[in-house]
Amino acid sequence: MRRRDFLLGSAVVGTGMVLGPKTPGAREYSVSGKGETKMAFVQPPLPYAMDALAPFLSEEQVRFHYGKHHTGYFKNLNALVEGKPEADMALRDLIVQAPAGPLFNNAAQAWNHSFYWDCLKPQGSALGGALAAAIERDFGGLAKLRAAMSDAAVKLFGSGWAWLAADKQGKLQVLALSNADTSLKHGLEPILTIDVWEHAYYIDYRNERAKYVEGYWAHVDWDFANGCFARATA
Ligand SMILES: [Fe+2]
Repeated sequence: MRRRDFLLGSAVVGTGMVLGPKTPGAREYSVSGKGETKMAFVQPPLPYAMDALAPFLSEEQVRFHYGKHHTGYFKNLNALVEGKPEADMALRDLIVQAPAGPLFNNAAQAWNHSFYWDCLKPQGSALGGALAAAIERDFGGLAKLRAAMSDAAVKLFGSGWAWLAADKQGKLQVLALSNADTSLKHGLEPILTIDVWEHAYYIDYRNERAKYVEGYWAHVDWDFANGCFARATA
């Protein structure tokens, strides 16, 4: 990671400690700081360099998405919870409990984006293990899952997220959810997500969402998704 990327990625870390990125179980961003500079929720560092996903996503695209939009949700979230009990909650719990409105929107967008970055890996990884078997069982194979999730992502009206999620029995389903909505809110463990807000792709793809979604699949970190699937049924 280059120095300016590190500086951008760490700009909101403050005095906190970041819990293991890329660890499906460690998605609790509530961090204890010291003194008045304490920030309740900390944006995790991008798990790769800003330009590592090019040409699928250019450095400029990732820099704006991670450094402006994602960072902005954390700033808004921290302002909303300052001095309130919600500041000490795990982010996942806050998302599940928050009523519709600014607190839910910013909390969910903060979490959704951290999850989105973890779903991606510069070279991708191979699908295997229990998740491969479940995809075969519930969709008839990876090609059909890919078609179903791509279709959900491309056809979602306006801004939102396409999700692959699992219930506690490990049954998989694809969801197309608007705005900040997340499968966490529906009692389903997120396995994979595609951000289809225009800010996710407009610099590189302009209005061609389908091309962005097509490019997504070569960079999926299926090892991460398998870890999330194991968590769903644990
Ligand atoms: Fe986004």
